Amino acid sequence: MHLTSLIFSASLIASTWATSTNVRTKHDKCLVGNPKLKSATLKGTAIEPTLNRDGCGSTAWGDRILWVCRDTQPVFPNGTTNKPAVWDGSASYSNMTHEGPAFIPIPPDGQVEDNAGYTHELLLYGNNHESPFYVLSDEFCGNNSAGLCPNGLRYPRSPDSPPLVTSYDEGTGMITAYTWIKNKLHDNNTNVIINPSTALYKVTWSPMVEGADSAVLPKTAFVSPTFFQENEFAYGAAGNIIVNDTAYLWAQSFLGAATSLARVPLSGIEDLSRYEYYVSGAWTSHMPSSVNVTEATINCTAGGQGTFYYSPAWSSYVWIGGVGQEINGEFFVSTSPAPEGPWTTPEHFLTVPLGNYTEIPAYGFQAHPDLVVDENSNDMYISYTKKMTTGYQTPLYLLEWEHCLDVVNT
Ligand SMILES: *[C@@H]1O[C@H](CO)[C@@H](O)[C@H](O)[C@H]1NC(C)=O
Ligand SMILES: *[C@@H]1O[C@H](CO)[C@@H](O)[C@H](O)[C@H]1NC(C)=O
Ligand SMILES: *[C@@H]1O[C@H](CO)[C@@H](O)[C@H](O)[C@H]1NC(C)=O
Ligand SMILES: *[C@@H]1O[C@H](CO)[C@@H](O)[C@H](O)[C@H]1NC(C)=O
Ligand SMILES: *[C@@H]1O[C@H](CO)[C@@H](O)[C@H](O)[C@H]1NC(C)=O
Ligand SMILES: *[C@@H]1O[C@H](CO)[C@@H](O)[C@H](O)[C@H]1NC(C)=O
Ligand SMILES: *[C@@H]1O[C@H](CO)[C@@H](O)[C@H](O)[C@H]1NC(C)=O
Ligand SMILES: *[C@@H]1O[C@H](CO)[C@@H](O)[C@H](O)[C@H]1NC(C)=O
Repeated sequence: MHLTSLIFSASLIASTWATSTNVRTKHDKCLVGNPKLKSATLKGTAIEPTLNRDGCGSTAWGDRILWVCRDTQPVFPNGTTNKPAVWDGSASYSNMTHEGPAFIPIPPDGQVEDNAGYTHELLLYGNNHESPFYVLSDEFCGNNSAGLCPNGLRYPRSPDSPPLVTSYDEGTGMITAYTWIKNKLHDNNTNVIINPSTALYKVTWSPMVEGADSAVLPKTAFVSPTFFQENEFAYGAAGNIIVNDTAYLWAQSFLGAATSLARVPLSGIEDLSRYEYYVSGAWTSHMPSSVNVTEATINCTAGGQGTFYYSPAWSSYVWIGGVGQEINGEFFVSTSPAPEGPWTTPEHFLTVPLGNYTEIPAYGFQAHPDLVVDENSNDMYISYTKKMTTGYQTPLYLLEWEHCLDVVNT
């Protein structure tokens, strides 16, 4: 991430790695099929000591790493989770060192429920003011900070992907980012609406306006609480990347039965008329009428939550994530020469330890390309929510892959 901003011009941002396709010709085409894992090292757990929360993803601009998580509860000063007080989502920053994320040893008196069992932690921090990071809509019982409706149903603000940073000004530090979030409706933990509508948020941060306080978090506002309608694909929610000033946006219908792809120029993200959809192997401006349009699905992802990114080391697009609801802790990887495919059949490469909350012991699978210092290496960080009976933990692993075997110079 840091190297990206040094090597490329000021207008480029971390997520535009793909614009650097000519930087490394040495390994072009070296990746045939799926990568082989060399090692996976547990580096520690990511923790905001005052908060207990799940489903964290990360994004980056400049030298900042922003984490955005789901259901959030305050933690008592003694480290015990205050379970009943849920609010819909929180955000944080984490610091980097020249080697990577700033993991520190957990001091002997620093053991709390959310870091129990780890030797190291990555401290997250930010001014959340105990209120949702993404503003809520009255349409979705947003007058309750947890999206809880009077009839007992709940609209959890549960992003499946972190914000997509579309502009970063190195001079002023200002950013614009976007997030697409499904308007899930839950009866307890059961989905009442199978393929709900999708909200589009704009996320902005302006240090000149906010002041120098490094813990001030970005602001969020609706572009539309219902940008995509019920039964339409939730483009952008399942993953997103920027290539050549165009956002590529993936959707998964519920439980990943179908994956679909849209694209839009960065300048047109708020304008539905500028979106295009990959249908029957070609781009069209006609949106598929519903998630049931099989011509609009591409063979991509293992069906669970995950992350898309571009790997300069492999000159390849990569998806890392889970299968189904990820409850077996199995991470899969798939690669493709282009966003549209052809994607390799996702391959299982790692099984992570399950939490002891047996009903949903693991979920929220993410990769963190923004945490990799040298993006020309083929290292990657991954995390997931390890759900304990005592609360949520966010273990982070450093993956190292076998080097390319078939180096072809171009
Ligand atoms: C931690 O503090 C809370 C609030 O004061 C209290 O209810 C709880 O019993 C304490 N837990 C432990 C393990 O001391
Ligand atoms: C789950 O593990 C935690 C330790 O992280 C422990 O405190 C808790 O008691 C365990 N729950 C059960 C039901 O064993
Ligand atoms: C993060 O970095 C800032 C700026 O250097 C520093 O003030 C802060 O203490 C660091 N926070 C953590 C949790 O490492
Ligand atoms: C939120 O709005 C609903 C429906 O309008 C209303 O019944 C409920 O009392 C409101 N709750 C709060 C906390 O204001
Ligand atoms: C949700 O929980 C409530 C209270 O425990 C229960 O009455 C209701 O049947 C549950 N709903 C579903 C769909 O499981
Ligand atoms: C981005 O532009 C480069 C250079 O024109 C081109 O080779 C590459 O295919 C483009 N990528 C996509 C996804 O269109
Ligand atoms: C999609 O297919 C499912 C399963 O056949 C069906 O229940 C649903 O009504 C269909 N939705 C639309 C919008 O056609
Ligand atoms: C998608 O993958 C399935 C299972 O691997 C395969 O049977 C099917 O032919 C593939 N479809 C396309 C369009 O590649």
